[in-house]
Amino acid sequence: LMIEKGGFEHYMLKEINEQPEVVRACLRAYSDPPRFRNQLIFDSTTDSLTLTACGTSYHAAEVGKFIIEELTGIPVRLEIASEIRHRPTIIKTAKAIGLSQSGETADVLTSLKRMKEAGIETIALTNVFQSSISRIADDTIYIPAGPEVAVAATKTFVAQIIALIKLALAHQSVDRTMRDQINLELERIPHKIQQILDNRHLIKQATSLVAAADQVFFIAKGVNVPIALEGALKAKEIAYINAEGFCAGELKHGPFALLSPSSTVIAIIAGDENQASITASVREIQARKSKVVCITRENDSTFNDSTDNILRIPSTHRLLSPILNAVVVQLLAYYTAEARGCPIDFPRNLAKSVTVE
Ligand code: G6P
Repeated sequence: LMIEKGGFEHYMLKEINEQPEVVRACLRAYSDPPRFRNQLIFDSTTDSLTLTACGTSYHAAEVGKFIIEELTGIPVRLEIASEIRHRPTIIKTAKAIGLSQSGETADVLTSLKRMKEAGIETIALTNVFQSSISRIADDTIYIPAGPEVAVAATKTFVAQIIALIKLALAHQSVDRTMRDQINLELERIPHKIQQILDNRHLIKQATSLVAAADQVFFIAKGVNVPIALEGALKAKEIAYINAEGFCAGELKHGPFALLSPSSTVIAIIAGDENQASITASVREIQARKSKVVCITRENDSTFNDSTDNILRIPSTHRLLSPILNAVVVQLLAYYTAEARGCPIDFPRNLAKSVTVE
């Protein structure tokens, strides 16, 4: 069994460690823009798009929405599959993408089927060749992540994000300099993920603050908000921790009331236009005596290593920062689950793919 897990303790850790290679595989698969563009049917006639998914795939869709809207100006509608399946006719976009790692999640299959019946062109984004979703959709984009065994999705999340970024970049409206910058920086992502993996003992050290907390909050702004939600989902799924993710600016509208010395806040600080605002949030949280762990860039001088708990990671293009931050929150959840003695790969009450409503 250890051989199957590539020498790792769990499938999840193996799959987290495969991410540099998965990103390389994605970049190879999506390196042929004309073909990719045709396959995506995402051209000048597309004036809006709907994305639908569940769980971790939904968080990938959320990152995708942010990036597609910013790069192309095309409005993207985001729908939880278990909700939109009951009211598909409210969708007015011409095209919809259903994201499902397994390609078998009942809510996603049904919502895509119903949208198709309502006259919408449907595209599947999946990791499983010839899965049910690819039979329903008009067209399929595969993510080349390889089989994912652990119930909690990791490498497929990163692959879905890359696919959506490449989809956005294939659109003719994207500024050329911006496209070149992002493509160049994408090539560096595998190495930067590897750097995070090589320093994983530092993330492991930080988990003592998470494992012992009564409640954990993940906060972020902008394109990293979905990573805060994903970090909280991972903590719930595999470490059985009462965790929630928030937009940093929303803390003061409620969650602040929950802060106490027994809570821990993980702040994702991406070094973008939100730096001042999220720094202010961190200072307010510290003033309320909650523990804070900051995930920030190696060159960020805002935080002081002796007073703040800091995880420093490589800097990248701000739109690609969710990929690196995702790896950090995956490892945080993993080591927290390990410290709490949880089964990790196969958590109680959860299934890899939910094929019933
Ligand atoms: C289950 C899994 C999650 C996954 C979700 C959606 O709940 O435990 O890890 O994100 O289904 O799965 P899908 O295969 O549709 O991406």
